[in-house]
Amino acid sequence: MDRKISIAIDGFSSCGKSTMAKSLAKRLSYIYIDTGAMYRAVTLYALREGLLRDGQLDEEGLKARLDEIDIRFCCNSQGLSQVCLDGENVEGQIRGMAVSNGVSIVAQVPAVREKMVLLQRQIAARKGTVMDGRDIGTVVLPDAELKIFVTAQARVRAQRRYDELKAKGQEASFDEIVKNIEMRDQMDLNRAVSPLRQAPDALVLDNSFMTLEEQDAWLNEKVEEVLHGNR
Ligand code: DC
Repeated sequence: MDRKISIAIDGFSSCGKSTMAKSLAKRLSYIYIDTGAMYRAVTLYALREGLLRDGQLDEEGLKARLDEIDIRFCCNSQGLSQVCLDGENVEGQIRGMAVSNGVSIVAQVPAVREKMVLLQRQIAARKGTVMDGRDIGTVVLPDAELKIFVTAQARVRAQRRYDELKAKGQEASFDEIVKNIEMRDQMDLNRAVSPLRQAPDALVLDNSFMTLEEQDAWLNEKVEEVLHGNR
């Protein structure tokens, strides 16, 4: 049997990292961890508790309550891992614009990152994980056997997010999504703690003009190379 490895997938928002990571985890029978969903769940908590209003975060208030926030992954009836906040499956609530607009602010708080990174390392301690995020290859799992850095043009990403929201019947404005993506890119790249960076040993994948099939084939080839010692 193949040895189990850790796979880190980092990159800009709405690059299709989670689609890619999910399909890879399924094919390899690995655990999939969406670290963005964890930051989104903390943001939902902050919104619900009134700690984040009109883009203003009560950082001290959030820090004081961090130990109370219970974030874990649970399986839904189809066996998909879903993020749960205090025992409630919140996958449906964390993808809307309110959370999307607030999450970069929450993800900049060092104490929030410390808590999330600790949790992520605990989950990945058993090998056989595909984890996607911004700092997985650089901070969370610097020893991951395979690191991918994903990128795509901002307008291509906005179109994908727009189509996704529409398909779910949610209201969406394309221009607002472009703005949100560009704002998040800037915040991800420029924040003081764990900014989005390509790990020196990461492989770059620009999927702007790739089909899902082409992307899967590329990825499978890289996994095979690591599993069979050609990299
Ligand atoms: O991947 P996503 O769009 O669901 O991520 C949501 C936000 O969380 C995004 O603005 C960046 C942040 N994030 C982060 O700072 N570190 C991670 N490992 C994952 C996400």
